[in-house]
Amino acid sequence: MSLFFWIHTTIVPIFDDKKTPVEFLLISNDITERKEAEEKLFNQYNELETTNEELDNFVYSVSHDLRAPLTSILGVLNVVADEVIGEDVKKYLSYIRASVDKLDNTVRDIIDYSRNSRTQVRFKKIKINRALNKALSGLTHLENFEKVKIIREFDQSDSIITDEYRLILILKNLLANSIKFCKLKSKNPYVKISFFKSNGKYALTVEDNGVGIEDEKIPYIFNQFYKATENTHGTGLGLYITKLAVKRLKGDIKVISKQRRGSTFKVTIPVGKK
Ligand SMILES: Nc1ncnc2c1ncn2[C@@H]1O[C@H](COP(=O)(O)OP(=O)(O)O)[C@@H](O)[C@H]1O
Ligand SMILES: [Mg+2]
Repeated sequence: MSLFFWIHTTIVPIFDDKKTPVEFLLISNDITERKEAEEKLFNQYNELETTNEELDNFVYSVSHDLRAPLTSILGVLNVVADEVIGEDVKKYLSYIRASVDKLDNTVRDIIDYSRNSRTQVRFKKIKINRALNKALSGLTHLENFEKVKIIREFDQSDSIITDEYRLILILKNLLANSIKFCKLKSKNPYVKISFFKSNGKYALTVEDNGVGIEDEKIPYIFNQFYKATENTHGTGLGLYITKLAVKRLKGDIKVISKQRRGSTFKVTIPVGKK
């Protein structure tokens, strides 16, 4: 048994006829058990936070280390693809390439996921156009990149105060989908990016006239690993990570989509405080 114990005391004054306090009633409860439980919980929370942080850092380093050899393999595959003759070998090489691409996409998504969860939100003023260009520069490898017209419905000078890394991450994922899921048979596949500010909030929309999403699948598209289309090389993590990034900016993301017509993703985020 410990020598010390915690008590919780309530003191109630007792008044006479003239409203003068004449006595005090003291009620004490031994709350040692509660205090010890609280302390244990606090320590466990701290330990959990440290483990979580260590795990995040570990995931981040491992994913970075994994990308280096993948990039080398992809480089060698590019060179070899031009050298080899023989349809069979070309076919097998294309299978290897597809698998390595898929692995590379997964690793990139894990890096984005981990960076979004482990780094602090830092607000700064950025031109929308600049953020958009940065997002697009990471998408030039996409098969349909050249075929989809990028329409900018905002002023060149429009700027936004938010976290730059997360803004680019959100744009990159939404644009990648609009480009990947464009309707190739359509005469003018496009993705339209618009931006406006009202009531202390920014609204960013990414609209395409692509293949759209079936009504019954829409509720699931933000879930991790969910793919509404089978023939995609994606991981099904893009919109999940996008939603988490929007959440870190204390914003909201919504979608309206019609099959064979197209999709519109609308992101609303509060104006950041510098
Ligand atoms: N712009 C879009 N047009 C059509 N379908 C989309 C669009 N964006 C997302 N989707 C659907 O939502 C699913 C989930 O998207 P995402 O999480 O980015 O996964 P991924 O791109 O890896 O397949 C996609 O597989 C696709 O079926
Ligand atoms: Mg995607």
